This record gives sequence, C-alpha cells and structure tokens, in this order.
Amino acid sequence: MTDTSASPQFVHWWESGVIYQIYPRSFQDSDGDGIGDLAGIERRLDYLATLGIDAIWLSPIFPSPMADFGYDVADYCGIDPLFGTLGAFDRLLTSAHERGLKVLLDFVPNHSSDQHAWFRDSRSSRDSAKRDWYIWRDPAADGGPPNNWISDFGGSAWTFDEATGQYYLHAFLKEQPDLNWRNPEMRAAMYNVLRFWLDRGVDGFRIDVLWHIAKAEGLPDNPVNPDYRPEMGEKLKLRQLHSTNQPEVHELAAEFRSLADSYGDRLLVGEIVLPVADMMEYYGRDRPGVHLPFNFQLVEAPWNAGFLRNMFAEYEAALPPGGWPNWVIASHDYPRIAARLGEAQARIAAMLLLTLRGTPTLYQGDEIGIGNVIIPPDRVHDPKELREPGIGLGRDPSRTPIAWDDSPHGGFSAAEPWLPLHMDWRTRNVAVQQTDPNSMLSLYRALLQLRRSEPALSIGSILLSEGSKHILAYQRSHGTSRLQILLNLSGTERCLPDGLGSGDLILSTLGSRPPDGWLRPDEGLILRLGT
Ligand code: GLC
Ligand code: MG
Repeated sequence: MTDTSASPQFVHWWESGVIYQIYPRSFQDSDGDGIGDLAGIERRLDYLATLGIDAIWLSPIFPSPMADFGYDVADYCGIDPLFGTLGAFDRLLTSAHERGLKVLLDFVPNHSSDQHAWFRDSRSSRDSAKRDWYIWRDPAADGGPPNNWISDFGGSAWTFDEATGQYYLHAFLKEQPDLNWRNPEMRAAMYNVLRFWLDRGVDGFRIDVLWHIAKAEGLPDNPVNPDYRPEMGEKLKLRQLHSTNQPEVHELAAEFRSLADSYGDRLLVGEIVLPVADMMEYYGRDRPGVHLPFNFQLVEAPWNAGFLRNMFAEYEAALPPGGWPNWVIASHDYPRIAARLGEAQARIAAMLLLTLRGTPTLYQGDEIGIGNVIIPPDRVHDPKELREPGIGLGRDPSRTPIAWDDSPHGGFSAAEPWLPLHMDWRTRNVAVQQTDPNSMLSLYRALLQLRRSEPALSIGSILLSEGSKHILAYQRSHGTSRLQILLNLSGTERCLPDGLGSGDLILSTLGSRPPDGWLRPDEGLILRLGT
C-alpha cells in the first residue's frame, strides 16, 4: 500500500482558478461595426493573461436574432456573423489555450430562439415531428393561456399561435420558446450540441437558467406571492413553484455532468438563483450534478459585516461533502459593483471576492471600476427595460463597452459603440490604470497575483472571525501558511478588534503602510500571520 497522505491533494484547475466573464458585444470590436467580436477578444488575450485570470466564460456567441442579445439561440452549433465564424472561434480557442487560459461557453438549454429551425418546424403543424420539442398546450376553456405563469420579463409566459391554434410556453420573451426536456429526441440533440463544442476543445460551459429547464407535470398554476410589490417587476407576482426547480432537473444536471466528465477535466457552472438549501442540491443528489452551482448571494447582499459573516457561515455549512464553493459580485444581469457600492467599497469587494474560499468569477470592466452608466432613452436595448421601463430592471448599464485607452470610442471600436461608454472613460480606461499603481486595475492584478502564489487563498480553508459591526475578518490557511483578511466596510476609520491586527502586511487596498492596529476608511488588509 502506498501512503498518499503526504502527497499534495489533486486540485482541479477550476478550483484554484479564477473565471473572467466576457460579454462579447462589449469587450473589443475588431471590424468597426461598434459591436465586440471574437477577433477582438483574441487581440486582448495578452491583457487577460497578464491580468492573472485562468478561464474566460463567453456570454452567447451563437447565431441569434438578438431579441435577448444572444440568449435567444437560432443555431447551437454556429457563430453569429456579428461575432465571427467557426474559424475565428477555433483561432480564439487555440490562442487562449496557448496562453494557458481555459474557455467556457454559455449553453442555453431552457429555450431557443423562435427562429431556430427546430421551433420553425415545431410551429409549422401539430403533426410536426418536432412539435413535442417545445411546450404546446390548448387554450384554457375561456380561450386564454393554459395556466397563470408569468414570463420573467413580465406578461404571460404563453403566446398563442394562430396557425395551429395552440399556445407555446416561454419563460422569457415570446421570441424564446421553452424547450421540452421531457422529450428524449430533443435531449439527444442537445447532448450532441455539447459534444460538438467539447470535441472542438472547449473547457466547459456556464449553463443558462439551469433551474428553469424542468417544469411540473401537468403545468399547474403557480401560487400568488403575498409579498409582491409592483417595483419588483411582474414576474414576482407569483411564486415559481411549478415552473422552476423541479426534481427532474437533477436528473438532467447529472446527465450533463456525466457527458462532461467523459471528456476529462471539463467544468459545468450552473446558473441557479434559489435559496441556499435548494442551490446545494445542484451539486448533485444521488449522482454528481454541476461542478459549481453559481452562487449569486453577493450580488444583492446588504453591505453589512454582520449580514455577510452569517451568509458566509451558512453557505459554508450548507456545502455538501466535496462541494467546492464559488462567488460572484456582478454580471451582465446585475448592477455593476462600483455602481452599487461606490468606488471606495468596490475595492473592498475586489479584495473580498479574491480572498474568499471558492472559485471567483470576475465580470469584465469591474477591474477598471466602471460605475453607473446613464443610458439615454433612445439608446435602451435591453428587452427587460423596454417591457417594464423605469423601475430599475434594465441591464444595459452593466453591459457597456470596455474603454481600453483615451483614443476615440475608448479604443473599443472605430465606430460609435452599440451602447455608450461610461462618462469618465477618458480617465477611466485600461491604459491609464495600467500605469497607475493605485488604480483599481493594479489592485485587481495584485490580488490575482497573490491568489496565484498563495495556496492559502486559492485552495486553503477559511475561518470566519467575530469581527465587528463594520469589520469583516477571516483567516485563510494552507499548510503552515496563514493569512488574515480585514475589511472595513465603512468610510470611517476603525480600531481593529483585539488580537486581529498583528501580522505582516502583504497588501492594503490603499497602498503600502505599516500596520498600526487601525483600518483606515474603506481599507482592506491582508496580513501574514506567524506560524
Ligand atoms: C440568464 C441570462 C440572462 C438572460 C436569461 C434568459 O439569466 O444571464 O441574460 O436574459 O437567462 O436567457
Ligand atoms: Mg465587430
């Protein structure tokens, strides 16, 4: 028998690594149409490699009428001409791999575009061989929709099709008909889609709205949500009890997983927006589920040390054995972190995200601290904002282009970008921040470098301390190495609680200084503790 206790624990790349989300429309344009593309991303791979991330996840790049900006897929095995060609994708993949970067695609299984050949066939006749690939039902007795379900973007989740006299279901836009995962042929076709990309060499997928894909048998009405208020958006009128998170979804997740595992070390990140206990089930019930059920708790959590400490403790305690944590602070669907917290606390959020236990996902543009962007009414694109205007649901402000330098259009494009740049792009851009040691970008780089060189941060254990009302404090350890993280969540100088200030300073969010038992306003510290 070999004694393996002394050999280093095998760590998957996605456990120790950091994921960076690219919103392709807004990363880098290469052909002067004002919209980012694959060749643009390829041009910026050196930037990403130097930043210190390990994997990029690309929001959808497949052929799409763009009713929901790519989350309405018209062909799962192609590339939209806006973004390039399959050849351009292969080049990007190869170039990324040459730099040691993994590439994740966005797999959208809940719905296709209404322009997908499958749906066009399905809606052509009740006898279509693909009729059952989507969810068709007869009208209710009064001619209205088959049940009370509401689309996540407001309005009924059903659209009547005159030609065949039935309604089809869509959890999002009517241009995004829901696929029927109870149909074995459709399932097989989707598994072939996964194989198509895995065969090409992609390293995994982020799975869009995974918790939506199975619906309750019989499609019963959803119950009314007693806490609904109009400013929440119409979807919250009902509790999505029967339309989401059904037991069958775990079967499907397990099938995705075994397919991915048959290709070796590939990663599945499942988008799950559910309470912690439900989210945990997506790690798998009887069989493994997705590797990482995307943990969105930080994107909306109150910025309060006590609240966050409890949230971290609960999440850690709820993880199943072997379940690897993950964190995200912003995305193309949520407000930018600097818009939500202001620039000073966005630096604290950066330190938090990159020192918590578990795989972090950064959202493009947060590393230069893009804040709130005002979108003039005539430039609104997001269907969510267009359908329920003025209540703050719009996602365009988080989807604006990256400013690379102070040349026209921020070096993003030779033409006017599809969404406006942030107001301060002439001074807030990658080129400026690269040369400023105190910039947000330099902070992100320092944190990413530290995370890479300190196993305590990338794979170590976490110990949450009591801290105080305004100070979040925790230790990360691996072997004999112990790091203390101290985050001042307020704009006021704070005395460190007893026993927490000792140690050698490794990094402050405010630049170098001797440790003195205090946290300056909006300061975060990483200290090395003695062994
Ligand atoms: C996910 C995507 C979002 C999209 C929705 C419908 O939540 O992140 O952008 O609108 O799914 O596909
Ligand atoms: Mg372009």
